[in-house]
Amino acid sequence: MSNNRVWAVVPAAGIGSRMQADRPKQYLNLDDKTVLERTIERLASHPQIVGIVIAISEHDQYWQNITQDFDCQLHTVDGGDTRADSVLNALIALADITDDDPWVLVHDAARPCLRHEDIDSMLTTLCNHQVGGVLGIPVNDTVKRVNENNEVEETVCRQGLWRASTPQMFQLNMLTTALTSAIKTQSIVTDDASAIELAGFKPLMVAGHPDNIKITVPQDLALASLYLQQQREEA
Ligand code: CTP
Ligand code: MG
Repeated sequence: MSNNRVWAVVPAAGIGSRMQADRPKQYLNLDDKTVLERTIERLASHPQIVGIVIAISEHDQYWQNITQDFDCQLHTVDGGDTRADSVLNALIALADITDDDPWVLVHDAARPCLRHEDIDSMLTTLCNHQVGGVLGIPVNDTVKRVNENNEVEETVCRQGLWRASTPQMFQLNMLTTALTSAIKTQSIVTDDASAIELAGFKPLMVAGHPDNIKITVPQDLALASLYLQQQREEA
């Protein structure tokens, strides 16, 4: 690793349309705290994370009610229209906060069950890597491609297929350049690694735990609660 300073960026400016709740999903309750508080807590309590930049929607009415103290410095910026815009805004703000080129862990606000072990795996595996990488899970199910009528067109070989999650870890300058270019060319980038790939680099896939789910639909809250309970019992 070029240095020991690792920052985190948390895009938290989405509206959570698939959750169909009365507020953005990052502000729903998960075991007596909001999802966002739990996510920030996981990052802030990791000893190698020195600070977090959080992208919050300019229409957000809930962030101001979060009063919890966290174990590292927190900065907020306005989010953008897409996840990529929100992450880029946070990276631009981070460049003003640090005067070097730190590694950055970009982590979705909607993934509150992230284990410190998974952060450790990323830091250890990627510390000498030229590009950076992504936490993910190999695909276990049989994968089918269907047409617009849901008719199966083919069974896709799952060899080498992974589900990409977050954190995604890249150096500040490389990710800023890659996202800027992806946004300028209107490329569809649903994660940070896609922008890095478009720039011609090959991020590394790092195996994570399957409990690092992204809260997306209502039943995911109950599942996340079960995973948190299981993690407490393991500790
Ligand atoms: N995000 C963001 N800015 C946006 C859109 C998304 O910061 N303009 C964040 C979300 O808050 C979330 C993460 O990116 O933490 C992953 O996005 P997703 O799970 O798709 O969340 P939403 O876009 O809020 O949900 P949906 O797609 O169901 O509307
Ligand atoms: Mg979305």
